[in-house]
Amino acid sequence: QGPEAVSPTGSPTGEPANSRAQSGQYLTTAQGLRVGDTDHSLKAGPRGPILLQDHHLREKITHFDHERIPERVVHARGAGAHGVFRSYGTASRITKAGFLAPDVETPVFVRFSTVLGSRGSADAVRDTRGFSTKFYTDEGTYDLVGNNIPVFFIQDGIKFPDVVHAAKPHPDREIPQAQSAHDTFWDFVSLHTEAQAHTMWNMSDRGIPRSYRTMEGFGVHTFRLSDEAGNTTLVKFHWKPKQGVHSLVWEEAQIINGMDPDFHRRDLADAIEAGAYPEWELGVQTFPDTEDQMFEGIDLLDPTKFVPEELAPVQPIGLMTLNANPTNYFAETEQVAFHPGHLVPGIDVTNDPLLQVRLFSYLDTQISRLGGPNFAQIPINRPHAPVNDMLRDGMHQTAVHGGVAPYRPNSLDGGCPFLAGHDMGAFVDVPEELAASVKERRNPASFDDHFSQARLFFRSLTPVEQDHVIQAYTFELGKCYEAAVRERQLMALANIDAGLCAAVAIGLGMPAPGATVQVPDPGPSPALSQVGKTWPVA
Ligand code: HEM
Repeated sequence: QGPEAVSPTGSPTGEPANSRAQSGQYLTTAQGLRVGDTDHSLKAGPRGPILLQDHHLREKITHFDHERIPERVVHARGAGAHGVFRSYGTASRITKAGFLAPDVETPVFVRFSTVLGSRGSADAVRDTRGFSTKFYTDEGTYDLVGNNIPVFFIQDGIKFPDVVHAAKPHPDREIPQAQSAHDTFWDFVSLHTEAQAHTMWNMSDRGIPRSYRTMEGFGVHTFRLSDEAGNTTLVKFHWKPKQGVHSLVWEEAQIINGMDPDFHRRDLADAIEAGAYPEWELGVQTFPDTEDQMFEGIDLLDPTKFVPEELAPVQPIGLMTLNANPTNYFAETEQVAFHPGHLVPGIDVTNDPLLQVRLFSYLDTQISRLGGPNFAQIPINRPHAPVNDMLRDGMHQTAVHGGVAPYRPNSLDGGCPFLAGHDMGAFVDVPEELAASVKERRNPASFDDHFSQARLFFRSLTPVEQDHVIQAYTFELGKCYEAAVRERQLMALANIDAGLCAAVAIGLGMPAPGATVQVPDPGPSPALSQVGKTWPVA
């Protein structure tokens, strides 16, 4: 039998907040032995040396020596909050997921993050933001591990280590922290032009959100929902903040990073403490699950592409309210483990080659980050659904498993064969015909266009917002030492928008190159300019 469920809000263990705080009349060791003096080590005489037999000293120092766990390999800096998700039921016509049925309340834990900086880096840097939500549903834990930008840098997860190596601080001096202002970042995105659309969002005001509370969230990939009858629909998930979408301007961000590097985590915690609970509506864009998985010329399996809302409106399916701060940062925000493969019946993945690699990566990294395979027993990671697994032993095992037969079927512990069919509420992988049976390492031709969506986004911005984009490219590329890298990035901008390229080139004091690629012109996008305005609730 697995560990107990967590409580919906407040302390994940359900214990009163101070139950494990320093309290009581006596200080004790971890073994409960009362300690009379914790300020003086046991020495041979008053001037030492210190004796090895001082077990209290050794316990205290040894435990301290092991207090840190590795920070996340990406998204190391974050802030979390507990809350509740209430579904409108509007999604129940396309998914059998129980937590999306009408009026179901599900406890959630959310962690917002920057991507590139270390745990102690500043909040208001120019970067993508993570937006991860853990839904503790009755059918098992569902994680929506998203970002505040709807497109990603790369089309195939095999490049993820490469883009992160390029975007993290330089390996020689380990600077800069969490800024795109360095040669390797621009080297990568100018050579791997599929990254241009995400980079454009980073250079826009979306790269410097005013608050976690004023960010949109995106699942990025296309997911597959299925109903009771097995009908499937492709969807993209969106979080829309009730607070509206607001950004900083660059000068503000720089001052804030100097004066209050904790700006975003302080803002989130203060708002919740004051009872100003932030809210987001969850919505979906829906697409027919056709054989080619294309929609209006956009390949739904290409994670560098979004679908404009004018082509597929976002339909609201529920409301999330964050209403409690974590009791303990380490226990909750640091130890929480999200995974795009934490799915529930009615929500399945697609063959998006970025998502497919993510499905491998998260569990793998967490085994090393959280010290072995049993981190689902850490209170914040415990499901609310009953757990009855056959996983045994391993590092940091805290469950005391009974029985003798952790295998099925067995005739000794009452372990019957699994029930057949769907009615047991099990996860059913949606059967899917595979398009090809030839092993190959290449992208489909529908992934070839790297520039039109960057152009679509840039041209949807107001003149003031476009000016911010020009200033951001100029500032960041101005920090790039290699002229050849700056030139190559200007060539990418030329393929996106000649005016943008010319303005940045003037800022850099360099000649503006001409376009080298014919990019389909997507035209203006009125839907994008709606972002941040009032969003209708069905
Ligand atoms: C965190 C890998 C793409 C969103 C992480 C972590 C890894 C990782 C190893 C650290 C997890 C941990 O230590 O708990 C990858 C790989 C990707 C990829 C291999 C591509 C193949 C993405 C994309 C998104 C995303 C496309 C957004 C849609 C996040 C978020 C976190 C995260 C939000 C932080 C989770 C938290 O708050 O704990 N990723 N990632 N990642 N990733 Fe990804």
